Amino acid sequence: MSDVAKVFNTDRRIRLGVWGLGRGLHLLGPCAALNIDVVAGLDYNAYMREQFVERCPNALTTDDLRTFLEADIDAVLLASFLPNHADDAIACLRAGKHVLSEVTAFMTPAEGVRLTEEVERSGLIYQMAENYPFSAENRWLARRWEEGLFGDLMYGEYEYVHEVLTLAYTDINGVPLEPGGRAHPWRSWMSFHYYNTHSLGPIMAITGLRPVEAAALPGAVRLPGFLVRSGDGMGGISPSLVRMSNGGLVRNLMGATTNDSHIQRLWGTKGAAEQVDGALRVRLGGFGSAPKHRIDPPLDDLGRMAAEAGHGGGDFWTIYYFAREILTGHKGPFDVYTTADCTLQGIQAYRSQTLGGIPQPIPDFRRPDDRDAFRHDTFRQTPYDVENGLFDGPAEGPVAAGFNTVVRDLIAATNAVAAAEAWSSIAEDVADPAFLAGIETDAVAARPRLDAAQQAAWQIIEAFPGSDAARVLVEVMDRTAS
Ligand SMILES: NC(=O)c1ccc[n+]([C@@H]2O[C@H](COP(=O)([O-])OP(=O)(O)OC[C@H]3O[C@@H](n4cnc5c(N)ncnc54)[C@H](O)[C@@H]3O)[C@@H](O)[C@H]2O)c1
Repeated sequence: MSDVAKVFNTDRRIRLGVWGLGRGLHLLGPCAALNIDVVAGLDYNAYMREQFVERCPNALTTDDLRTFLEADIDAVLLASFLPNHADDAIACLRAGKHVLSEVTAFMTPAEGVRLTEEVERSGLIYQMAENYPFSAENRWLARRWEEGLFGDLMYGEYEYVHEVLTLAYTDINGVPLEPGGRAHPWRSWMSFHYYNTHSLGPIMAITGLRPVEAAALPGAVRLPGFLVRSGDGMGGISPSLVRMSNGGLVRNLMGATTNDSHIQRLWGTKGAAEQVDGALRVRLGGFGSAPKHRIDPPLDDLGRMAAEAGHGGGDFWTIYYFAREILTGHKGPFDVYTTADCTLQGIQAYRSQTLGGIPQPIPDFRRPDDRDAFRHDTFRQTPYDVENGLFDGPAEGPVAAGFNTVVRDLIAATNAVAAAEAWSSIAEDVADPAFLAGIETDAVAARPRLDAAQQAAWQIIEAFPGSDAARVLVEVMDRTAS
């Protein structure tokens, strides 16, 4: 499908501005084929703007929000800092732009009410760019679920288990944050409950159900190297139990662990499905030992186009649904109401965990009464002081400013050496010697980098003893024997 006009049967083009040129830039691949011209980019990070200029040399590139919003653009792809999405989206809507917001949509119920009402007032299109529901496998499940193949949802377990320690100190491309000595605005402290849409979103899109109640227990254990000392940050584990609108239950799991995974399981009253390492298998017949077999979802023309985009095709479909609604009025799966359902589940799960696990209702912002009940609800996690927290004050001097580079390099080298140490301790039990040899080669290559990073880390630790920066470095170094 190389003829771009054929996707929507119109020559009309959409003038898109991109706010936030990290993730924002990763999403631009399918735009041209979906009637979208990328005409403006906004970021106050000079390095991000440079990447954008390389990619879109003829677009307006600016660090000034007003210039961006006054530009001749129809729509904004919003990929700014997660905790700012609600206000940033409202600013775009007030400037008359349609909005495709990255996940998640807001941090507090009160923000959610304001966002919902601004979308209604504006009459503009708002969608959330939740992409995980649209892998070929999840799209196949959604089609078959709608046909009734699986019956009613009894129980589901979807997860987004992703350890991203480095991103607490770097941008999305692994470049140390500038100015150094500061932590990432949200990845350094946010509870994973707030990043709940990659796991709950697919279940909602497949079954058509909305979450109505959430409960979560606080997990006290976290991985080393994260800034938040409790299990509340992105180094902890955040499972919640969710009651869906049909009375079925879902375990929604997010977190950082020593095993990144996307295992996805659904049990309906007529059949079940599971995805492990991307392979989809279904069990059909309506009894426990019913026949089970692998499914390879067939791809149509659009599915083949999508397969070239990131996140199993999901990145294509989010842009596609947004363009489709602008061009044809055909709604996408994550309008502002479904977006609120999905986002609120994480907020209420986090609230539940702070209350020792008491279940929390998930309001339906389609209903004016529910909005009124949550209109002034500003509950949210207390952020870490990303400006001053690492060094108990502003990061001054070259040693503190070098922290982000040192910790990034230390994590990378430590990972290679720690893996070799762990695997060599069970070398005689490993089936494939070539596997071990590869790990050992990586560790040998990393050793000089580890020595240099450890030396630089000790400089910081000795200059700022007792600081969070020192604690983080010690925790990372303790992961290796040497
Ligand atoms: N759906 C997915 O698979 C996926 C993957 C990665 C990130 N995301 C989402 O994308 C968003 C962006 O993530 P990211 O990884 O690029 O990291 P990020 O949050 O560090 O990047 C935000 C970018 O926006 C810029 N920015 C923020 N506010 C600004 C303002 N007012 N004016 C100018 N520039 C501003 C920052 O300089 C930065 O470059 C996040 O909300 C994240 O949740 C989604």
